[in-house]
Amino acid sequence: MATQARTIFIGGEWSAARSGASLDVRSPIDGEVFGAISRGEKSEIDHAVQAARAALAGPWSTMAGFERGRIMSRLSALILEQVEELAQLEARDTGKPITQARTDIRATARYFEFYAGAADKILGDVLPFLDGFQVTVQREPRGVCGLIIPWNYPASMFGRTIGPALATGNTVVLKPAEDASMSCTRLTALAHEAGVPVGVINLVTGLGEEAGAALSQHPDVDFLSFTGSPEVGTLIQTAAAKNHVPCVLELGGKSPQIVFDDADFDNAAKTIVGVITQNAGQTCSAGSRVLVQRSAYERFVALLAQKMSDVRVGAPQADLQCGPVINRTQQTKVQGFIERARAGGVEVIAQGSLDGSAVETGYFVTPTLFGPVPTDHELAQDEVFGPVLAVIPFEDEAEAVAIANGTAYGLVAGLWTENGARQMRVAKKLRVGQVFINNYGAGGGIELPFGGVKRSGHGREKGLEALKEYTVAKTIVLKHG
Ligand code: NAI
Ligand code: MG
Repeated sequence: MATQARTIFIGGEWSAARSGASLDVRSPIDGEVFGAISRGEKSEIDHAVQAARAALAGPWSTMAGFERGRIMSRLSALILEQVEELAQLEARDTGKPITQARTDIRATARYFEFYAGAADKILGDVLPFLDGFQVTVQREPRGVCGLIIPWNYPASMFGRTIGPALATGNTVVLKPAEDASMSCTRLTALAHEAGVPVGVINLVTGLGEEAGAALSQHPDVDFLSFTGSPEVGTLIQTAAAKNHVPCVLELGGKSPQIVFDDADFDNAAKTIVGVITQNAGQTCSAGSRVLVQRSAYERFVALLAQKMSDVRVGAPQADLQCGPVINRTQQTKVQGFIERARAGGVEVIAQGSLDGSAVETGYFVTPTLFGPVPTDHELAQDEVFGPVLAVIPFEDEAEAVAIANGTAYGLVAGLWTENGARQMRVAKKLRVGQVFINNYGAGGGIELPFGGVKRSGHGREKGLEALKEYTVAKTIVLKHG
């Protein structure tokens, strides 16, 4: 029985769930319970949406942009002062290696820094129209934003969604993932300390099917942002449709890394293995398919195998390349992919190894490189969300593009070639939201607009693009004669 937690923050007050119910918080490192969160549900969501609605009246939305920016800068500074505490908490809650956790917390601070600087630069347009008219288009806040984020990068998702929402004068209700809410509670407290007014950020911890569903279906929410599985994405979009509100959906991918025979192999192999083992492969933009030109197949795959066998998996404090996955369900899911592929005769090219700190009760998975993987195999089509990499050979540019575009997803692509004309030709043909050429920034780059096409979702977060999502254009036509 969990102890009663007080992790719900509404209208500037911390509280327990009205039902009194809490949920155990388990660490993926050892499966041990180390805390509890409140199990908020519909009544807490109703209350939080009400508080966010009331806060829209001011002072946040009426404050000058630069003043909002100053408060957000203060939040950024507070986060930087507490990088270590926040990183330790994030590592315990998600299992990520401590260096990766520190990087995530610094990224969270960067989101608030970046959007603080944007808060007084939300520009409109003056449009040419008929003689005697003045037409302006201004960007106004959406209103109450419902934000539902996943467990893989909880702190940085807090910044990625709340940063642009706040810069543009909205108020928010955040529902973090039940598997990793701890850093979001700390960050909410820091935002309050930084001077974000009461009711502007409301936090309701709880289960997806309870608090999450209630938030997405709430008739008084003006905008929804969701990152998570495509299945839940469909539920969110259906709820948004019923209430006629817009939504941004970021639903993962099966992102290709395309390696041509003229690539810088060392750099490519190192980056590709680094990206698929970062956060134990639980990154929506992880490059989980490696498309290798046949003429270089043996040479490149040997290098990839070497890098994969060097990967060590362990507890966050051992600070290796790879930690555990988030929970038992995810561990079983990822191991299922590995076992089915083996049983089906797909060759294991290389595997990483478990360190002594990877204890039996933790949710550790051995990173695995498979290949050649047939293009219709589930390892070539489905998101594993674990440290599993599928190698697929291709003949020429046209085939590389066809395979790259041949899944239901379209989030990111990596392109490895020194041929400048080919870089641009292929980049233009890929149906994805981001292309990295001779580098790959899974999760990184606050400045870079991010989001997918097809089953990867729609809408853009990060960068200045996100400001468009969190605002709505109003056209004002004045006839002055
Ligand atoms: P999920 O999609 O169920 O959870 C993501 C968020 O949605 C969490 O905050 C959860 O509480 C909430 N949620 C769940 N059900 C909901 C509902 N009915 N209404 C409203 N909100 C709801 O993802 P889950 O179950 O944790 O992981 C399953 C798979 O989804 C993973 O194995 C992975 O393949 C994928 N995934 C992708 C992510 C990405 O970054 N694109 C992040 C997390 C999961
Ligand atoms: Mg789920």
